[in-house]
Amino acid sequence: MSRKFFVGGNWKMNGDKKFITETIEYLGKANLDKNVEIVIAPPSIYLECVHYLAPRNIQVSAQNCYSVAKGAFTGEISPVMLNDIGIEWVIIGHSERRNVFGETDNLIAEKIGYTVGTGLKVIACVGEKLEEREAGQTEAVVFQQVKAINNKLTESDWSRVVIAYEPVWAIGTGKTATPQQAQEVHEKLREFIKNEISEKVANEIRIIYGGSVTGSNAKDLAKEKDIDGFLVGGASLKPEFVDIINAKL
Ligand code: G3P
Repeated sequence: MSRKFFVGGNWKMNGDKKFITETIEYLGKANLDKNVEIVIAPPSIYLECVHYLAPRNIQVSAQNCYSVAKGAFTGEISPVMLNDIGIEWVIIGHSERRNVFGETDNLIAEKIGYTVGTGLKVIACVGEKLEEREAGQTEAVVFQQVKAINNKLTESDWSRVVIAYEPVWAIGTGKTATPQQAQEVHEKLREFIKNEISEKVANEIRIIYGGSVTGSNAKDLAKEKDIDGFLVGGASLKPEFVDIINAKL
């Protein structure tokens, strides 16, 4: 089963109109691997602008959304509104939403279930904290996070989901998981999905790695059989994002 390599750039709370212009310009001029699905995720205020300016080979993602169409939820954005402006992807469950803003497994699962139901595609983030890894709880944590999401999805819904395994201890720290560490979790996650959901979903779903991916470590990570791409933070704000996209070349 060949899964299309997937590289997402999560800008987090970074960027301005000048940065957008410069970034879209160099991505537009770069020779990007045609066999890679590329998504960039600007802050929500810039979504429509980036969607309008992005080259045809680059899709645009929100970094979060809420779990209903509309209502008294000050500050939130609805997946229906994202569809309205042509956005195709949403990152949901990022560890910063979990650990800074207190989003629970259940809320994240609700958001993913509703968002997929509106026709959007979701990058669903899972990952353990350092203390959970040191306590040997990595598998238990990520399996529980996927199980919660599965409670809100049908088997066919999973075709609209990419799982991003992002060990919290590797995010923004420069301490990238080794290819072996990442491959081990990806392989076990895929086995878990095969047993918990179906062999079809396990074979087809992209499981991508995030956590201090750079232009210099991407190639070795990309060689691992169960690493189907990356979700990139800091390095997606720099021209080396092109090297990460082209990691399989
Ligand atoms: O969503 C991707 C992000 O959490 C990874 O951040 O800066 O470690 O690549 P970074």
